[in-house]
Amino acid sequence: MENKTICPNFFNNVMNDSFGVYKTCCLHVPLKDNKVVGVPVSEDLNVFWNSEYMKQSRLKALNGEEIKGCEECYRSEKNGGTSLRKDLVEIYEDDDEYNERLKLASENGGHLNKFPSALELRVGNLCNLKCRMCQPQDSDLINKEYKELISIDNSLSTILPVVDFEISDDLTNYIQSIKNNASEIKVIRFSGGEPLINKSFYELLDFLIENRFAEGIEFRLNTNLTKMKEDTLEKLSKFKKVTIDFSIDGLESVYEYIRYPMVWDVTKTKLNMTHSFMRKYENIKMNANFTVQIYNIFSMFDLVDFFLSRSMLPILHILQNPSYLNIRNMPDNLKQDVVAKIDETLATIDEKGYMDKFQVEWVSERLRAIKNQMSLDRNEFQIDLFKKFTNALDVKRNQNISIMIPEIAKYYE
Ligand SMILES: C[S@@+](CC[C@H](N)C(=O)[O-])C[C@H]1O[C@@H](n2cnc3c(N)ncnc32)[C@H](O)[C@@H]1O
Ligand code: SF4
Repeated sequence: MENKTICPNFFNNVMNDSFGVYKTCCLHVPLKDNKVVGVPVSEDLNVFWNSEYMKQSRLKALNGEEIKGCEECYRSEKNGGTSLRKDLVEIYEDDDEYNERLKLASENGGHLNKFPSALELRVGNLCNLKCRMCQPQDSDLINKEYKELISIDNSLSTILPVVDFEISDDLTNYIQSIKNNASEIKVIRFSGGEPLINKSFYELLDFLIENRFAEGIEFRLNTNLTKMKEDTLEKLSKFKKVTIDFSIDGLESVYEYIRYPMVWDVTKTKLNMTHSFMRKYENIKMNANFTVQIYNIFSMFDLVDFFLSRSMLPILHILQNPSYLNIRNMPDNLKQDVVAKIDETLATIDEKGYMDKFQVEWVSERLRAIKNQMSLDRNEFQIDLFKKFTNALDVKRNQNISIMIPEIAKYYE
């Protein structure tokens, strides 16, 4: 009988949450009664990997029982959808090494005497930007700005969640565990905050290269790209395979409005530099991460063209939270105009001469998903929150949506 609860992440994967605790999966939320729970990253990784929670979770998974913390995947499957769990099972079910891990855990009361093969490191909330859709646990600058705004207007506290505890970017013990077991690692992903301004990123990169582990490891990086340097790219090229997932939420003034206080020309220069490295090294690949939200819903079309014409995949993530930036909560006339533009794009995309047909098909599928998202019912209250949030940040940052993104501002007048 099909096991409907097992998830490969409990046997292969470890990451640290932005709040500073270990976990197996990005969807798991380590908060209970508004407090962070779990094993802190200041501990050795093995304290978490074979903790009572992990051993019991593995046994439950092997027996087809539900694991606490995985509700989001189970819910989505019960509603007839897919889930991260289901996708991972498809990837791993015929993998000999994964099946060996299941056997070992089952024979040892859930204890797994093998180091995780895939690791993600989130480098705390140190960041050089304060993107409008991002959150205090990913950017200390956002946390600071939200606190300042609330001190001026306390009514903003309902829409601006702040973090009142220290988020540690000290990954010393996590990194030491990785160094001690580097030969067992297949994939490492760095995310943040911003990895390129964190010393642990460079420390681990150098260690893996100097000790000849890099050539056996796939390295993935989520970055805003603004601090990328040539020598970092040279180092990255030593890894077996490299994927640079860089974030870009618009072009020119839309980019500058969302990814404050970055200047578009700086990012464009970094993008061109990284792209020319990619062309030089076959093992480096780049994807453009685009978080689809109300501010950039029209820029999406130019951005898709910008990247598809350079054979780079624009990954269109649909923002869910904060709700006031979610495209389901746009006014009807804005939704209608976006749907018309999507239909026109889908009807003409094959004639544009884009080289990579897989990329074209992938983007077309995402555009259809964006249409679905907009067809969901709107919460009327969110329109007022959108205006309140936009205005508060505009005043604080000396920006003006009517000047920087007039094509959106006109629907909110
Ligand atoms: C938190 S950032 C960390 C890495 C790096 N600083 C960057 O910007 O790529 C990781 C990704 O989350 C995206 N992101 C930010 N806020 C989001 C939100 N509210 N919903 C979904 N994705 C979001 C960012 O655009 C980025 O692609
Ligand atoms: S650069 Fe990344 S972490 Fe920093 S504010 Fe923007 S999305 Fe958040």
